[in-house]
Amino acid sequence: MTQERIFDSLDPTPEEFREAGYRAVDMMAEHFAQIDEVPVLPDATPAAVEKVFEEPLPETGSDLMQVIDEWDERVYPYAAHEGSPRWYGYVMGSGTPVGALASALAASVNMNAGGWVGGPSATEIERQCITWLAEMIGYPTDCGGVLTSGGTMANHSALFAALQATNDFETQAAGLVGLGDTEGFTLYESAHEGHSSVERVAEMIGIGSSAIRSVPDDEHYRMDPDALVSMIESDIEAGYTPFAVVAQVGSINVSAIDPLEEIADICEDFDLWMHADGACGAVGAILPDKAHLYEGIDRADSVTLDPHKWLSTPYGCGCVLFKEPAVQARAFSMHASYLDVSEREEYQGTNFGFLGPEMSRPFRGLKLWMSIKDRGLEGYRKLLSQGCLCAEHLHDRVVEADDFEVLQDPNLFIYSFRYLPSDLQQGLDDPERHEAIDAYADWLNQRIADDLRFTGLAYITTTIVDGKTVIRFSICSHRTTPEDIDISFEAVRDHGERLDADERSSFDI
Ligand SMILES: Cc1ncc(COP(=O)(O)O)c(C=O)c1O
Repeated sequence: MTQERIFDSLDPTPEEFREAGYRAVDMMAEHFAQIDEVPVLPDATPAAVEKVFEEPLPETGSDLMQVIDEWDERVYPYAAHEGSPRWYGYVMGSGTPVGALASALAASVNMNAGGWVGGPSATEIERQCITWLAEMIGYPTDCGGVLTSGGTMANHSALFAALQATNDFETQAAGLVGLGDTEGFTLYESAHEGHSSVERVAEMIGIGSSAIRSVPDDEHYRMDPDALVSMIESDIEAGYTPFAVVAQVGSINVSAIDPLEEIADICEDFDLWMHADGACGAVGAILPDKAHLYEGIDRADSVTLDPHKWLSTPYGCGCVLFKEPAVQARAFSMHASYLDVSEREEYQGTNFGFLGPEMSRPFRGLKLWMSIKDRGLEGYRKLLSQGCLCAEHLHDRVVEADDFEVLQDPNLFIYSFRYLPSDLQQGLDDPERHEAIDAYADWLNQRIADDLRFTGLAYITTTIVDGKTVIRFSICSHRTTPEDIDISFEAVRDHGERLDADERSSFDI
């Protein structure tokens, strides 16, 4: 047996790698060239896509070029295109080309950003990105922070630290069970616009989702500060231990921003942790005409913001900022002898593996760092204001149409509204028909979204606003223009008209 056969390598030769790499870059370039035209979603069922990828575990390897070509043959045809200008589902960032290159570069060196030693430049880039993000949103730049996989983990990190800080870090060793003298810990968020990730987090940190108090909102879907105070007071009286308030900074259904200064005052009065969930909208603070809405964000103890949403950084790239770096460090402190590095003092760097929930961590910072450097703050101001302008344009279309109902002001980039033929809108005034018309409207709006999805023209989703199923546009792609909005709006109307003509008679309205 020769040495060569014993010590095989995974690596292709440099020439083979170059050939495959150029091919992959060509595929990416083709994708970006056609992103405006490509169907937003493939019309394929999960079972059909499963079949495409069903094959035995390969016993032997294949030619690298053949493996790369699988992208064109099987992967790309069944891709969803969050990067399309007409993808409006959920809150999906569109991705930057420079971010795609950065992801490939980061993977090539494969630094583990859990520790400084395993990722010197990765760590310092992450630290720089955290400072830049803080500066962008007007948060103190001497804050702590960590890049996360996304907003859920950012919210988790924030509320995990909040709970520990509230208990003077006793929960770190004792867990919640050791803290006998309370009916339970409670946290507060907007009833209408609170995000589901906070429920998951409450379950993960052991307080349970029943710890969440849903605070009533005003007519603009913003948390009502007076209601917050009375809920906190009555919980204290009942023996609960309130510990945190989650303020929305660009909410999931209507882009609302809670009254941050008032919430900060209340948190100060009751000694509660203020967390600002700006996963979607915090970065909107860079827009001069919106800056006033963000006043008070600098007073939050922690802030979630997701570069992989409105900043279009490729997935996954969330971020949590902490006002007090020492609190973050204590909450995630950990020791293991096998992680000690016996180095000189001047070589002791930041270890992000001890500043958040993950130990091994990908080099998330590069795609964000390169994207920010590529565009600059001025570039991002322009891109974000385009999103807001598109939402305003959509609002104008809804306002001027008599077959649509307005539900909100255009705040940032998420905008919800309802399709309802004008005669049925008038019918809502009749108490005997009201409920049946609403039920029909729920069905109609859901079917519009479902049917539109199969055209490949645009992807929209529905949500519930004020108890009604409504159409929701999340205009998160930096590629969307008012023309895309017009095309998509007209498609919603066409589907609505067709469905109404075909199906209304089968409803008892
Ligand atoms: C307000 C808010 N918070 C948190 C999240 C969770 O973010 P992620 O999906 O990145 O975990 C979202 C997701 O849309 C969100 O809108």
